[in-house]
Amino acid sequence: MSVLVHGARVLGGEPTDLLLRSGTIAEVGALAGTPAAEGATVLDARGLVALPGLVDLHTHLREPGREDAETVESGTRAAARGGYTAVFAMANTFPVADTAGVVEQVKRLGDEAGWAEVRPVGAVTVGLAGEQLAELGAMADSAAAVRVFSDDGHCVSDAVLMRRALEYVKAFDGVIAQHAQEPRLTEGAQMNEGTVSAVLGLRGWPSVAEEAVIARDVLLADHVGSRLHVCHVSTRGSVEIIRWAKQRGVQVTAEVTPHHLLLTDELVRGYDPVYKVNPPLRTQADVEALREGLADGTIDVVATDHAPHPVEAKDCEWSAAAMGMTGLETALSVVQHAVVDTGLLTWADVAQRMSAVPARIGRLAGHGTPLAAGEPANLVLLDPAARTVVDPEAMATSGRNSPFRGMELPGRVEATFLRGEPTVLDARLVERGPN
Ligand code: DOR
Repeated sequence: MSVLVHGARVLGGEPTDLLLRSGTIAEVGALAGTPAAEGATVLDARGLVALPGLVDLHTHLREPGREDAETVESGTRAAARGGYTAVFAMANTFPVADTAGVVEQVKRLGDEAGWAEVRPVGAVTVGLAGEQLAELGAMADSAAAVRVFSDDGHCVSDAVLMRRALEYVKAFDGVIAQHAQEPRLTEGAQMNEGTVSAVLGLRGWPSVAEEAVIARDVLLADHVGSRLHVCHVSTRGSVEIIRWAKQRGVQVTAEVTPHHLLLTDELVRGYDPVYKVNPPLRTQADVEALREGLADGTIDVVATDHAPHPVEAKDCEWSAAAMGMTGLETALSVVQHAVVDTGLLTWADVAQRMSAVPARIGRLAGHGTPLAAGEPANLVLLDPAARTVVDPEAMATSGRNSPFRGMELPGRVEATFLRGEPTVLDARLVERGPN
């Protein structure tokens, strides 16, 4: 199939045409009506912004073991709807993705589903138990070619294990993605520690529990000369520590979630568990520092931490509810709302932070590449002028736990292409068939 995307604004720039053929961007320029475009299906993309297909460094696909929450098929279908062409699938499945066998299974399920490229994340420690290193080398050498390792959901809190993991992955250019949470400081914690937790009488989760681990880990990464990635940064202090580490030349990268860019712990006052998440929603001062950190490059990427849960795990009292929020289908809209429409980021910046840089951190080839002739045809077309009221019931994810339910957000994904084939395509874009 050959497709002419007509009149799209690449990275928000001037309108142009892109010809997609045999999985590749064959040509870019004024192509409509030229012999090059002959026979192509024409998509009317005037008014739409074209970005490279998004890459999510932090997705929970739940399979194997928690197919009641999500499957690789439903999760990657949600990813495509959100404009993603690749996702890194977190290791906290059942069984845990701590062996070559499990990561290969996850990759195979992703290939079979065909909605997005699935790159499994390997666990750092056996069973995420934080006691013994998993077989990192075997996962790296496997058909899944794992490069990102994380115990996400749990912190690798043992400094010696963390040091060994950082040393080990250097051999194959891997990276340790740390869930920074000092366990003793967060025992029984239910929400951010602050004014709201004091009023509600809920056990608080202090910022220092995140910041202390990040401070330790940037020093460890510096000491062993290895790559550290910090998952879901949520506090102002964390941004300051990472900024300091980068100035020192530490090989550290960091991510922020869409929900931490927009929501605060004030929402917990209604005790709706849809707002229960790890790390917790923080304060407005933290939100502002995260936005600034993303704008100045201290925080490298936006990653969703898409964490679907079955209805019964969320439809219960606050203290019993599971932690996590869905995010794949709303990420781009939340980013547009929080940092593009507010003037902090351009669409070119978004392409860096949601596609090129996450692909580079995860050593993922073929994604996050420029929308230029000869590059793989992985791209998303979005209508920045559209506005949508978020409806979890209409989503592809099995999770109904979207904290954005009922909010009107800007931007709508109109089409996603994976290796030149549409995984999402609004029929209204198809101007005419082969001409
Ligand atoms: O809220 C969260 N949910 N944070 C995590 O780190 C793990 C995730 C999950 O797996 O549900």
